[in-house]
Amino acid sequence: MAVDVILGLQWGDEGKGKIVDFLAEKYDLVCRFQGGPNAGHTLKIDGRKYVLHTIPSGIFRPEITNVIGNGVVLDPFTMVKELQSLDAADVDYHSRLLVSKKAHLIIPTHRYLDAASESAKGHSKIGSTLKGIGPAYMDKTGRNGLRIGDMLASDFESRYKAIKTKHLGLVNLYPHIDFDLEGEEERFFTSIERIRNLRYINSEYFINNALNDGKKILAEGAQGSMLDIDFGTYPYVTSSNTITAGVCSGLGVAPSKIREVIGIAKAYCTRVGSGPFPTELNDETGEKLRVAGSEFGSTTGRPRRCGWIDIPQLLYTIMLNGVTQVIITKLDVLDTFDHIDVCTAYGYDNLITDELPFDIVNIPIEPQYENHAGWNQSLEGIVNFENLPEKAQLYIHHLQKLLKTKISMVSTGPEREKLLAVN
Ligand code: GDP
Ligand code: IMO
Ligand code: MG
Repeated sequence: MAVDVILGLQWGDEGKGKIVDFLAEKYDLVCRFQGGPNAGHTLKIDGRKYVLHTIPSGIFRPEITNVIGNGVVLDPFTMVKELQSLDAADVDYHSRLLVSKKAHLIIPTHRYLDAASESAKGHSKIGSTLKGIGPAYMDKTGRNGLRIGDMLASDFESRYKAIKTKHLGLVNLYPHIDFDLEGEEERFFTSIERIRNLRYINSEYFINNALNDGKKILAEGAQGSMLDIDFGTYPYVTSSNTITAGVCSGLGVAPSKIREVIGIAKAYCTRVGSGPFPTELNDETGEKLRVAGSEFGSTTGRPRRCGWIDIPQLLYTIMLNGVTQVIITKLDVLDTFDHIDVCTAYGYDNLITDELPFDIVNIPIEPQYENHAGWNQSLEGIVNFENLPEKAQLYIHHLQKLLKTKISMVSTGPEREKLLAVN
């Protein structure tokens, strides 16, 4: 069978977790292919809220196997906390949660380096989640990293010490920051002990064997395409390939195995952390979006920056990902807006264009807006797309036309069941 992909088309937090949890039912395996505990995927099931960071969002479906792929960087401490929250919710994951031996480990000094490097950047800081993501991927590509499989080796501690010593040399290059290394190391080794009895696998074989056996696989992306290390708003990005290409390298599946690419986008747009955001609203409308959408980070609690939906940005990420269908989330957040704006083009360098400039960080962009009347009505209780207010339907159909891509579903609330199929 084939691999379908769910990934974010904006700057993250599009509602990927909710959609993966909803659609997981149709699959045999849900596999995370990149990122690490910088992600925060929120699920609302039977009135309870869960936030997953490393564990795939198919874990609440008892019949589904969940794989943490080789492309992921894993922090044992965050992992233990997530497992504890699953235990508290009586989720039996022991036979259904598998971890690639080739996934990389985040060790305490990765977080130390992340914090020291961000602090040294001053005003040009990335706004990292400080989970050690950048330094862990640097060690991976620098060929110094420790992998999950190494954790099981007899010389693990001496390899850990060697890399820690290297990191401490690097930390000294930055101005001093406080970091309780001793305490963090104690937590790290305790956590390693607690995750030792998880199931570790050669995930590339496991996944390809599953495909050969006719199993259906859903690949779950983290972050968003605008945070991609190659195509995002560099350097204000994360350190992995968040686009469809990351599925191949992050799970070990061939491009020919990928079928549907489901791109998730909010009905407006948000970003957390620093960097360019052409449609950002630094006014009361932006504040209204933040309050209506509860736009505060799932991982760090930071307020998210808010703005209108950006069609050039979405056309760019639809192109990069080969998106075959789009799901629009958080439509209900626009319920109380008299007017809704849609950015259809960018103005810069005396041009009106829908192409993103290379130097998006420094070139001032003048978004060109279309104005739409809002529907000013609650979407609560509406279970069919056809029963949405006419203006809400028009908004979705209009977006579909602008995006030149099928909008297959619309989400109208955080709860699992609040998802309407678009005809
Ligand atoms: P992810 O990182 O892409 O999984 O998204 P997050 O979980 O970080 O952020 C999405 C937030 O929006 C979470 O708090 C979700 O519970 C919530 N959410 C998801 N879909 C909807 C929706 O359709 N409407 C509303 N109001 N909230 C939603
Ligand atoms: P999910 O999967 C939103 C942002 C950070 C920062 C930049 C780099 O929940 O959508 P990093 O910690 O990777 O060094 O941070 O990327 N960022 C996210 N923003 N959602 C996420 O994940 C994010 N993961 C990282 O805020 O600007
Ligand atoms: Mg999130």
